[in-house]
Amino acid sequence: MVQANTIPSPFARLTATAPGASLVVAQLGQTLDGRIATITGDSKWINGQAALTHLHAIRAAVDAVVVGVGTVIADDPFLTVRHVPCPACQPARVVIDPTSRVPLDAKIFNSDGARRIIISATDAATPDGIERLVVPTIAGRMAPLAILAALQAAGLTRVLIEGGAATVSSFIDAGALDQLHLLVAPLLLGSGKPGLQLADITRIDQAIRPHTTLHPFADGDVLFVCDFTQDTR
Ligand SMILES: NC(=O)c1ccc[n+]([C@@H]2O[C@H](COP(=O)([O-])OP(=O)(O)OC[C@H]3O[C@@H](n4cnc5c(N)ncnc54)[C@H](OP(=O)(O)O)[C@@H]3O)[C@@H](O)[C@H]2O)c1
Repeated sequence: MVQANTIPSPFARLTATAPGASLVVAQLGQTLDGRIATITGDSKWINGQAALTHLHAIRAAVDAVVVGVGTVIADDPFLTVRHVPCPACQPARVVIDPTSRVPLDAKIFNSDGARRIIISATDAATPDGIERLVVPTIAGRMAPLAILAALQAAGLTRVLIEGGAATVSSFIDAGALDQLHLLVAPLLLGSGKPGLQLADITRIDQAIRPHTTLHPFADGDVLFVCDFTQDTR
């Protein structure tokens, strides 16, 4: 762990990655006890305004924002950049939807000039302007690296995996992330929907130990920037 007063900006890696170069960043907002919602699914709001602004600044720095279909169905997010001043920085909005469950009237498909993309297992017609990328599945799952390759082929190389927990976890398990921005709010739920759920390990020395910097926000949340390209094991 690097102390807060010696650390680089949490955006150092993002701003150093030029268009066309590859960078895969994920984010997850959670409580101190690693929860992202109560047992009823209530999640508004775990994190504070500073974390939201940070998320929008990441969106503004990437080519594509990717979510699992579970997030679109649960939250119907816009996935646009609104809380930082960068009106020209609207990344492509991408949903991973292997079995075509996503409602086509979801807000991510609003026609506002940004690219809108469905990643699915089979080809099918899409409404005007919405792109479809086909990634094969094995036992219903797409390999995260195959998803990233499809995005890269579509010209989208700087990618934010925005959620939910299942999607971010699968990208970590696949070794497909460069960075995780983990936004921890100082509250305890004690029950509810867990955040990261990775493949089982049996020994502590098998744990992932990314190089991690911490960045306290004024409103009490703490950002942990975990760099998987520098495992400290
Ligand atoms: N705290 C945060 O920062 C944050 C951020 C975003 C969302 N959320 C919350 O997270 C919850 C939703 O998350 P979730 O974990 O339930 O769902 P999710 O990660 O949003 O979506 C999971 C679904 O996406 C599809 N998918 C994702 N990766 C895939 C892959 N590699 N291969 C095939 N399919 C893939 C699958 O769809 P199928 O089921 O159709 O196979 C999978 O079940 C909501 O409650 C939302 O509020 C929290």
